[in-house]
Amino acid sequence: MTNKQRLYNITTFGCQMNKADSERMAGILETMGFQFTEDADQANVLVYNTCTIRDNAEQKVYSYLGRQAKRKHKEPDLTLVVAGCVAQQEGEKLLRRVPELDLVMGPQHANRLDSLLEDVFNGSQVVATEPVHIYEDITKPRRESNVSAWVNIIYGCNERCSYCVVPNVRGVEQSRTPEAIKAEIEEIARQGFKEVTLLGQNIDAYGRDLPGSTESGRNKHTLTDLLYYIHDVEGIERIRFATSHPRYFTERLIKACHDLPKVCEHFHIPFQSGDNDILKAMKRGYTQERYRSIITKIREYMPDASISADVIVGFPGETEEQFQNTMSVVEDIGFDQLNTAAYSPRPNTPAAIWENQVSEEEKSDRLQRVNHLVSIKAAERSQRYFDRVEQVLVEDANRKDTTQVMGRTAGNRLTFFPGDINELKGKIVPVKITQVRPFSLTGEALTLVNS
Ligand code: SAH
Ligand code: SF4
Ligand code: F3S
Repeated sequence: MTNKQRLYNITTFGCQMNKADSERMAGILETMGFQFTEDADQANVLVYNTCTIRDNAEQKVYSYLGRQAKRKHKEPDLTLVVAGCVAQQEGEKLLRRVPELDLVMGPQHANRLDSLLEDVFNGSQVVATEPVHIYEDITKPRRESNVSAWVNIIYGCNERCSYCVVPNVRGVEQSRTPEAIKAEIEEIARQGFKEVTLLGQNIDAYGRDLPGSTESGRNKHTLTDLLYYIHDVEGIERIRFATSHPRYFTERLIKACHDLPKVCEHFHIPFQSGDNDILKAMKRGYTQERYRSIITKIREYMPDASISADVIVGFPGETEEQFQNTMSVVEDIGFDQLNTAAYSPRPNTPAAIWENQVSEEEKSDRLQRVNHLVSIKAAERSQRYFDRVEQVLVEDANRKDTTQVMGRTAGNRLTFFPGDINELKGKIVPVKITQVRPFSLTGEALTLVNS
């Protein structure tokens, strides 16, 4: 390539895993000498990091790609990359659909972007979707935030929930070693970050694939052990983790979250359905009673813990009565936040070809009904913050009102208050809450006597 300025842009769809992968890919591109541009139309290397969890997520990328493929006819030097879960799912088929693409690469290949691009610059069209052992992350991510960082601890998923594409596109579980994770967190702390979120699709599976982990019949490298192991990294003030699976969630973990002061009292534990027969058809491996008992146990240790989850409505065969069982869980638990979705049939998943599909009308009607209940319950949950003092870790200015800053409570509620971002970024500030909304809060900073 010539030595004129080389620019890149990455558009990221999907979950936190994809965001973390994009940050690592951005780090690689910068090491290769590319500079970030906000404007995709200016970029010489354009990466779409894609999601295929539901059909509407997948379709989004095709509309973006169509436009850039046209641009490539005028600018043949443009390098077009599709990364992530659609890339893994579609592989070669993507090239047939969009022949202008230069590189199609699955999520397991994110850390290899440099060598894949070298092949592209040498004139090849490349598809990298074969399963690989994920190389230890020696790359330096270019992180979006400089307050809060994501740290992958386990890649992939070995579950086989009957609706889900993730195991197909993310491959089998691969845990990073506790030492590598701690080293990354220490590096993050040195860079001034205050918060880490440990990531895994099924984070409770952490460690069971590590060598020697089951010698005594017990996994010696569990998430709980990891929390104790990383807890004291100096400079890190908050530790979060996601996503928890009700089948593997333990009381030991609850106790650790209670005992370890830096671990935030926030749990993201998807329940997917409140009906036992649907849970069975989903192959989730727990009952709604077990789910409720986990939440009860969390609240015994930490009455104020915030609880979030995911749920699917309109799974094949779901009757109105079964949907009402889901509504009862939403009603009874009182989630602080709940991600809701209508079931979407996905390629190469068992449930997609069952004959008892629920109609689109019924699915969207159930989605609306559950969303309505979610906002009522979230508003009720928010009430408990009113007039309370919350410790808010300041992340950024409030984009809509720059006289205010925004941050999160330990329970992960988005909070705004008047203040100067230059002074407050990365600080934990006591804030008296004066207004509550279903999913966010507003308050006033308390002046610190000695500050
Ligand atoms: N590993 C997490 C989920 C990751 S996918 C877990 O086990 O809970 C994120 C969410 O997308 C899921 O929790 C589920 O609620 C939703 N989802 C996954 N597949 C879906 C599908 N086919 N249709 C609708 N929603 C789906
Ligand atoms: Fe998908 Fe189930 Fe794995 Fe979650 S646990 S990623 S829902 S297969
Ligand atoms: Fe989407 Fe892949 Fe995440 S399908 S939700 S980006 S694991």
